[in-house]
Amino acid sequence: SFKPRIFSGIQPSGGLTLGNYLGALRRFVEKQDEGIETIYCLVDMHAITVWQDPARLRQQTREGAAAFLAAGIDPARSILFNQSQVSAHAELAWIFNCVARMGWMGRMTQFKDKAGKNSENVSLGLFAYPALMAADIMAYHATMVPVGEDQKQHLELTRDIAIKFNNDYKVDFFPVVEPLIEGAATRVMSLRDGTRKMSKSDPSDQSRINLTDDADAIAQKIRKAKTDPEPLPESIEGLRDRPEARNLVNIYAALAGHTVEQVVRDFAGAQFGTFKPALADLAVAKLSPITEEMNRLMADPGEIDRILADGSERADAIARPILEQVYDITGM
Ligand code: ADP
Ligand code: NA
Repeated sequence: SFKPRIFSGIQPSGGLTLGNYLGALRRFVEKQDEGIETIYCLVDMHAITVWQDPARLRQQTREGAAAFLAAGIDPARSILFNQSQVSAHAELAWIFNCVARMGWMGRMTQFKDKAGKNSENVSLGLFAYPALMAADIMAYHATMVPVGEDQKQHLELTRDIAIKFNNDYKVDFFPVVEPLIEGAATRVMSLRDGTRKMSKSDPSDQSRINLTDDADAIAQKIRKAKTDPEPLPESIEGLRDRPEARNLVNIYAALAGHTVEQVVRDFAGAQFGTFKPALADLAVAKLSPITEEMNRLMADPGEIDRILADGSERADAIARPILEQVYDITGM
């Protein structure tokens, strides 16, 4: 039996979005506040599976750390660090590359989405990404991983890798991790296309709300968000075939801490001309304290670097002995 321990990460491949906040970051803070051991990571080695300008990557890693801190991650109660500073991630990922099967990786929908039709020309790292993710989690014997809906398949792969390692080496060494995909906004959609998830790597800045956006940018993006011409429905069933409307209502509910039913009731029959400004006001009210705190933290990057360095030492102290046992088990 393994003690409860939470691990999760966010890629510093761009500025963090409202999707990252509602689907991940906010939940990370809740888990910390529940008193569970929490380890959180800026996964810079995942970010470079697609090209990253070095100076921007460094900046985005600091900014990502500022977002964690501004959202309520307390370095005294959680470990916060960046992945490349703890070499156990890369070392265990190699071993997992040798446990995972090509066929498993080839079924990953995120790879297929990101590689598109040009899969001959994407990095090998993009294909192997889920093995590194499994290593991130298993290097700490983490038992629970709070994530958004998009990571469900990768977590199933993490379980498969842990099970196969345990079977191949006849050990009960890695826990079978439990995905925590819960809450009101496990899948926030793009503001421009209700069928795609909101992502920091979407080429269109209009598709997402960034945690660094000011009030005007938030209001403008929500005003321009794609919708249909109908007013909001009288009941939740009326949202079924209206992905853009449903997304905005979901975002409202998640930000307000209300159920979707309640939001539908409050805005039944309202035009988007009424609903969108209400949503923008709510988003600004909820996000501006975070944005302001991020700006304050970013004024002292040395302090952020110190927090990350301290976090990586504490992370290494957990991961290194686990990795030593892995080398022992595998005969290395
Ligand atoms: P991105 O696609 O923005 O680069 P990441 O791959 O860095 O996101 O994911 C970091 C965390 O944020 C993961 O737990 C992921 O499930 C969550 N997440 C990302 N996008 C969304 C979204 N649109 N809605 C809900 N959660 C999301
Ligand atoms: Na992603």
